[in-house]
Amino acid sequence: MLADKRILLIISGSVSAFKALELMRLLRKADARVTPVLTEGGARFVTPHAVQAIAGEAVHQDLWSLTTEAEIGHIRLARLPDLVVIAPASADMLAKMAHGLADDLATTLLLATDKPVLVAPAMNWAMWAHPATRANMATLAARGVRVIGPNDGAMAEAESGPGRLSEPAEIFAAIEALLAGGMKLAGRHLLVTSGPTHEPIDPVRYIANRSSGKQGHAIAAALAALGARVTLVSGPVAIADPPGVNVVKVESARDMLAACEAALPADAVICAAAVADWRTAHEASQKMKKVPGQPPAPLELALNPDILATLSAHARRPGLVVGFAAETENVVANAITKRQRKGCDWIVANDVSGDVMGGAENAVHLVTEKGVEDWPRLPKQEVAARLAARIAEALA
Ligand code: C5P
Repeated sequence: MLADKRILLIISGSVSAFKALELMRLLRKADARVTPVLTEGGARFVTPHAVQAIAGEAVHQDLWSLTTEAEIGHIRLARLPDLVVIAPASADMLAKMAHGLADDLATTLLLATDKPVLVAPAMNWAMWAHPATRANMATLAARGVRVIGPNDGAMAEAESGPGRLSEPAEIFAAIEALLAGGMKLAGRHLLVTSGPTHEPIDPVRYIANRSSGKQGHAIAAALAALGARVTLVSGPVAIADPPGVNVVKVESARDMLAACEAALPADAVICAAAVADWRTAHEASQKMKKVPGQPPAPLELALNPDILATLSAHARRPGLVVGFAAETENVVANAITKRQRKGCDWIVANDVSGDVMGGAENAVHLVTEKGVEDWPRLPKQEVAARLAARIAEALA
């Protein structure tokens, strides 16, 4: 599948750079062509001789190399490949990419390329968790840069945590998925809502529900894995942002609707959020006081906007609108009615009477204009992957 595909492989400075050698070997074995670029930091960990010998092509290191410039030129080098891969991608490399710096050959190529870019980050867990790296990753995701890893585990410096470079076989599989027709949603913008909403009562209290965001986040990740540019509008959740996704964090239903409208146009929207149906009619500006001996003041509720119904009837309605229906009884019958009432195209109906909310698995029924499909009970990631594949088919 990778035969004659050309991959520009940038190796930046990390102790894990030795894994890039194995990655190149796997790529060559699959008949891909590898053009290696070694940064100054990368060359501290692997030698240009090893890189060049395994790549079977000249290694590029110097922006100012007269020989390379005369033979090929760095702009052509940037345009030549089918895919640009940065493995390992150091924290410094990701920061430079996010800010558009171009102070060496690798970063100049990255600024000049018009090809898809896959990064495989590798760094100490604290560097990966640092707000600066988080912000840089968010910037890169919003630009459509794809991410593989990092993995969680032991580090060279005898610490442990997320930051380990993905294994060569994993990076190879990601490359294969990106190049071998796996990019079915490339060039598409997909909008996903996820998580609960918090509806403020006063500055310290709110109304919420038990949604974990796991299903919605998994859907966003699965769509991104198919090459889509994904905007994930998420209510407050305790889980990590999916890699390669532009995450917009909101609190209330009204914030969520505004963020969704601001993200339009989109090719499809998947409303997986458990939006609160009601909010308090009057949000108290000060913390409400408990008055000893007095009964609590009743909470007057107001109806929240229905985001799914609003987007279904929107002037800039996405081509495909998918809703969820969490039910505890008459799951399919309710979903069929809900599909019509909300004006969406598909409903993913799930029975939440068991341990679905917050759990790892989901048993869903897909209700479309053609009828009802019963899917087996699957991990939420599998449900997401299946749904993403169906969405890609529908948008093809
Ligand atoms: O009416 P119900 O809450 O069961 O509908 C569920 C579907 O509608 C889900 O897709 C959910 O994300 C969406 N929804 C919404 N805004 C609301 C309520 C539900 O987008 N206010």
